[in-house]
Amino acid sequence: MCGIVGYIGHRDAYPIVIKGLQRLEYRGYDSAGIALYDGASVNLCKTKGKVEDLKKKAKSEISLSGNLGIGHTRWATHGVPNDVNSHPHYSNSGDLVIIHNGIIENYESIKKELIKRGYTFESDTDTEVLVNLIEEVKLKENVMLGQAVQIALNEVVGAYAIAVFDKKKPDEIVVAKLGSPLAIGIGDNEFFIASDASPFIEFTNNAIYLEDEEMAIIRLGKEIKLRKIKNDAVAYPNILELQMNIEEIEKGGFDHFMLKEIYEQPRAILDTYRGRLLAKQGIVKMAGIDQHLDKFLNANRIIIVACGTSWHAGLVAEYIFENLARIPVEVEYASEFRYRNPIITENDVVIAISQSGETADTLAAIKLAKENGAFVFGVCNVVGSSIARETHAGAYTHAGPEIGVASTKAFTTQITVLTLLALKLAKEKELFTDSQFHEYLTELETIPSKVEKALESNPLIEIIADVYKDSTNCLYLGRGYNFPVALEGALKLKEISYIHAEGYPAAEMKHGPIALIDEHMPVFVIATNKGHYEKVVSNIQEIKSRKGKIIAIVTEGDVQVKELADHCIEIPETFESLTPLLTTIPLQLLSYHIAVMRNCNVDQPRNLAKSVTVE
Ligand code: AGP
Repeated sequence: MCGIVGYIGHRDAYPIVIKGLQRLEYRGYDSAGIALYDGASVNLCKTKGKVEDLKKKAKSEISLSGNLGIGHTRWATHGVPNDVNSHPHYSNSGDLVIIHNGIIENYESIKKELIKRGYTFESDTDTEVLVNLIEEVKLKENVMLGQAVQIALNEVVGAYAIAVFDKKKPDEIVVAKLGSPLAIGIGDNEFFIASDASPFIEFTNNAIYLEDEEMAIIRLGKEIKLRKIKNDAVAYPNILELQMNIEEIEKGGFDHFMLKEIYEQPRAILDTYRGRLLAKQGIVKMAGIDQHLDKFLNANRIIIVACGTSWHAGLVAEYIFENLARIPVEVEYASEFRYRNPIITENDVVIAISQSGETADTLAAIKLAKENGAFVFGVCNVVGSSIARETHAGAYTHAGPEIGVASTKAFTTQITVLTLLALKLAKEKELFTDSQFHEYLTELETIPSKVEKALESNPLIEIIADVYKDSTNCLYLGRGYNFPVALEGALKLKEISYIHAEGYPAAEMKHGPIALIDEHMPVFVIATNKGHYEKVVSNIQEIKSRKGKIIAIVTEGDVQVKELADHCIEIPETFESLTPLLTTIPLQLLSYHIAVMRNCNVDQPRNLAKSVTVE
């Protein structure tokens, strides 16, 4: 997820673009860049680091004049964060300049073709490929920039919000959108472009939000021309009059980043498997693993090291790897693993899971594993982070920046990556027939829409939260794949509402926790219709007979648990091993609403940091 900003009009572009980038830094902040047209030439400056670093560098390196400009603050997906991979990117001729938020999945094949035609590339990014594809089309078809963009975008697969200009026609900017947001601010003979309205709301509250597969040719002194990218049909601008303030816009209209990130999960899961899950072809493509498959296939075991929510994702992965790929897995708290003098050999594969990629304990565990000869694979959300650089190989989640301290979309995207990895290994071991594999991949493709469906229970969950917001203790129970989700649900509640909560395997009740049950103890039970359902029902009966309050997460259409529980929250049906991606949603929302009702600081809970970079 990156931030893009553009301006064309009667004012100086630099201050508008730079300030706009600062407002979009919540969307990505590992590198930034700006390109300005001063009436004679393009002045471009870009740098690893934050927008503040860009400001310093630009002031000392380029002319800041001109009333046409585009800027970008990056959250890397292809190519580590550095100056060269930062946006904007020039085409080979230097005439075209582009900024892009999204992922071009087929950029490698396009790049190969362009290289054959003599194009050269400075960066590792998919964006530099796109701007040269546009240039190639423009030259070969001898068309204007708008048409070249349209033809080129019909050749790419992926997600994009782009702004591109041609220095030879500096009264025009072309923008296009698919899968990533793009807003156009309409002023008095001036136009603004941005990922959301926060960069231009102080100048105008008249905006157009492009729809998917729409593009616009923005020319000074002219009406905006909207087009459908696929069939060139004319689209009619729906000009909105915005009433939001800047803070509301940064949070996408949500009250907190955590709630925004809970609702981003369908997109985040889709972005994470985009280009990797090819259900129609029946294949899983994972560039970071292909050349290391033998390490996993010949491993004695997989050791997963992580902390907090990432550790819970590791526990889900243990069930997934052992069930689907039949590879032994152990899951370790990184903080324990690093000090307990574990036995590690070169036949072990260690998977390190970390949203931030900076957690000190996990980093230390990785170093210990490497010293003992193990192959270490990282699953991180921050490209170029310390853990991403320390591991031998890895696969990124494409969740976009997670600003809320409580991890939500990181958890579901980590499970998505680990599921893809397990599936790939299972197929290599021929544990799936082609049709079984295709069936599984097809079901995995439905998860984003099933998460959307699970989110629809939000109003019911808010009502339930109000009932239990004053509890002092809560119990979370799950079995099998959903035992780790019970732990994760308890952690969410603890860390943002400060209510004590514990997660347990449901079968553990009789070994002690059942002594806690009385009418004051809410018990959240994950009781989906797959995985020991009947046994969970008996656990619920045991709780009910001791007057415990039962809030159950059930599969839609459930009847039996509904007759027993005080409240039921439904999730769509899916494969047992995919249920954690859905059962976690209501528990995230529940902890969020309880914390809000208790006037807690949801995005920055007391005593916590987003990344624990110290012991
Ligand atoms: C989870 O909501 C917490 N924010 C915390 O447990 C977090 O998961 C843990 O600190 C690990 O962070 P990492 O994923 O960035 O390594």
